[in-house]
Amino acid sequence: MNGATPHIVQYQGSKRNLAPQILRYFPQKFNRLIEPFAGMAAITIAVSKQRRAEQYVLNDLNEPLVNVLRETINNPQKLIEEYAKVWNEQINFEGGSVEHFYKIRKDFNDGNKSAANMLYLLARCVKGSVRYSTNGMFNQSPDKRRMGTNPKNLASNVYMISSFLKGKTEFSSVDYREVTKMAKRGDIVYMDPPYQGVCTTRDSRYFSGICFDDFVECVDDLNSRGIDFVISYDGTCGEKQYGVDLPKELKLKKVMLNAGLSSQSLLLGKKEKTVEALYISPNLSDFTTSTTEEQLLLFAL
Ligand SMILES: C[S@@+](CC[C@H](N)C(=O)[O-])C[C@H]1O[C@@H](n2cnc3c(N)ncnc32)[C@H](O)[C@@H]1O
Repeated sequence: MNGATPHIVQYQGSKRNLAPQILRYFPQKFNRLIEPFAGMAAITIAVSKQRRAEQYVLNDLNEPLVNVLRETINNPQKLIEEYAKVWNEQINFEGGSVEHFYKIRKDFNDGNKSAANMLYLLARCVKGSVRYSTNGMFNQSPDKRRMGTNPKNLASNVYMISSFLKGKTEFSSVDYREVTKMAKRGDIVYMDPPYQGVCTTRDSRYFSGICFDDFVECVDDLNSRGIDFVISYDGTCGEKQYGVDLPKELKLKKVMLNAGLSSQSLLLGKKEKTVEALYISPNLSDFTTSTTEEQLLLFAL
């Protein structure tokens, strides 16, 4: 199938732009794709568009986010209608559309965590960047220059995504370690955890953070069970390196992907290249098509 890969809404850390590079390391056909840190599921959408897996598992600890994925795939029409209702309300809202955002945000924090409300907050907030307070309240501000994705534009993407994944997808909202336990030989586990930090249960950017040692243990367990996986891990921007390498004992292959120029640096008038690391499980390394020359070229850019 040709044409651009559809997406639901902009999401921080989305692998939408990197998906073509990442998919080069996946087998052409496999049983099941498991995404324990799904976010807005850019990789699952790209794989399903190419019909490379039979089944899909989408998990993210952020439950309202998983509701958006579930409704997109299983009830696209209902989601679009409900989103259009929320979105249209902002047009003539007393006090203006920014006040409308704050009203929906309050509704959401008071307990109405419907998929339509979550989608509207994502579509309307600054750069699709969810932010949570220490007590778990959504506290990101609205982007004052944009109204958020028009429901008409959203509709075609949502229907397309549903057509790729309906009837083939399981959803959950639990810790990644529970989901990786279900993986069997013949599955591919794609993991895109939040950038590693200190061992903490909170990460204001993503609702929750993860602990490095727990993650290494989980990867080691997949290895020992002979399960294939691909991990997007750290990031390098200019001189700055984010994150620590995964231990050599895991025997993973590490490749660097060109993630383009950093928008953050461009704002400051600097042109800094962003490079993202991808770790590939020992068996999967055989599928790689990236050559040493390509890797050297990337470092020379
Ligand atoms: C970098 S984002 C994933 C982006 C995704 N690849 C995409 O293309 O949209 C990381 C995700 O991990 C989720 N997360 C954080 N801690 C988690 C945990 N312990 N278990 C499962 N998901 C978690 C966050 O809510 C966030 O959506």
